Amino acid sequence: MKAIVQKGYGEFEDVLRLYEVDVPTPKPHEVLVRVVATSVHADVWHVVKGQPRAVRLFGAGLFGPKSSIPGTDLAGTVTQVGDAVTRFAVGDEVFGESHGGLQWTNGGAFAEFAAVPESALARKPANVTFEAAAAVPTSGFIALTNLDFEVYGPGHRIIVNGAAGGVGSVALQVAKARGMHVTAVDRADTFEFLHALGADCLIDYEQQDFTQGSERYDVIYDVASTLTLDNYQRALSPHGKYVRVGHEHYGQRGSQTWGSLPEFFKFVMLSAVRKDLPSMSFSLPPKHKIMTQLAALLEAGLLTPHIARRFPLEGASQALRELEQGRVIGKIMLCPQAT
Ligand SMILES: NC(=O)c1ccc[n+]([C@@H]2O[C@H](COP(=O)([O-])OP(=O)(O)OC[C@H]3O[C@@H](n4cnc5c(N)ncnc54)[C@H](OP(=O)(O)O)[C@@H]3O)[C@@H](O)[C@H]2O)c1
Repeated sequence: MKAIVQKGYGEFEDVLRLYEVDVPTPKPHEVLVRVVATSVHADVWHVVKGQPRAVRLFGAGLFGPKSSIPGTDLAGTVTQVGDAVTRFAVGDEVFGESHGGLQWTNGGAFAEFAAVPESALARKPANVTFEAAAAVPTSGFIALTNLDFEVYGPGHRIIVNGAAGGVGSVALQVAKARGMHVTAVDRADTFEFLHALGADCLIDYEQQDFTQGSERYDVIYDVASTLTLDNYQRALSPHGKYVRVGHEHYGQRGSQTWGSLPEFFKFVMLSAVRKDLPSMSFSLPPKHKIMTQLAALLEAGLLTPHIARRFPLEGASQALRELEQGRVIGKIMLCPQAT
C-alpha cells in the first residue's frame, strides 16, 4: 500500500515521504480499515516536528518516531477483522482514532490501510460522508472531554475563545445543541463561518478583549488558552467554570522542551482547590464512547464539519504546513484513495 513515512523529526518537507509499504496485519482486537479520509490536527504537527521535545519522551520516540506512519483521525471501510473483534465486521463503515491512548505518537492513518483497535472506533452514520466523519475524532474527543456539556442548557452562556479552530468549532456546535447562548471569539474573517455554525455573538480577538467588557459567562471555554488567572475571573459569572484546553499555537507559545506542560500541571493542581476550574483527571474515557456520541451528533445534523482543503496522501507536508500557518477556515483533509 502507499503510505506517508516519517524519517526523524523536523520540517515536514524533509522528514515525510510517500512510500510503498506492507499492508499492516490486524492484531486480535484490531480491524483493518481501508482509509477513505484522514485529517491533520495539532498533535500530528507535534509528533512530526518532535516539538516540544517532551513529546519524544512521552510517546513519540526518544531518538526518532517509534511508529513511522503519522496520522490518527480516519474514516473508512473495514476489510479484515482480528480474531477477538466483536463490534465490527468486514464491510462496516467506521470512523475514529487509530489508537486508543494519547495522541503523542504516530497512529498510521496517513496510509491506504490502517490497523486500528476496535475500542477507538464507532460506526459511521450512513448520512455522513467519510470526510466529515474523519474531520472530528480528536478535536471532538478534546471538545467533549474538557467540559461536561450535559449539565448546561438553555439560559446558560458560554464564550468559546478560539471558536473557529478544530476544537472550538465542535465545542460551539455542541453548546448550541444543548441550547446554550454562545459567544464566539476569533478573527473577523471567520465570522461568516461562526455565524453559520450558530454563534449568537461574535468577538474579534484582534480588536476586543472580552474580559474587559461587562458580560459574564457561565463557561469560558478557552481553546486559544491566552487568558490569565486574573483576567478570566472578571468575565466569569459567580458559579462559572473556566476550561483551559491548552494551545501552543504551533510552536509560538511554550518552551521548546516542555511546551505548555508546566502550565497544564499548574491548572491540574489549581483545579483541586478552585471551584471555577473543572476537576481534571489523567484517566481518559473510552474512545469508542466519545466516538459514538460524535456519531449521534453528526447523524442528527447537530455537528457539521466544514472541509476547507483536500490533498492526496503525497500532499501531507503541504497539509501540515497550511495547518501551521493558520488562516484556513475548517478542516484540512488527506484522501489516501485518491493517490
Ligand atoms: N483539533 C484537534 O484535533 C486537536 C488535536 C490534538 C490536540 N489539540 C489541542 O487542542 C488545541 C486547540 O486545537 P485546535 O485544533 O482547535 O486549534 P486551531 O485549529 O489552531 O484553533 C485555534 C483558534 O484560535 C484562534 N486564536 C489564535 N489566537 C487567538 C487569541 N488570542 N484569541 C482567540 N482566538 C485565537 C486561532 O486563530 P488564528 O488562525 O488567527 O491563529 C484559531 O482559529 C491544540 O493546541 C492542541 O493542543 C487539538
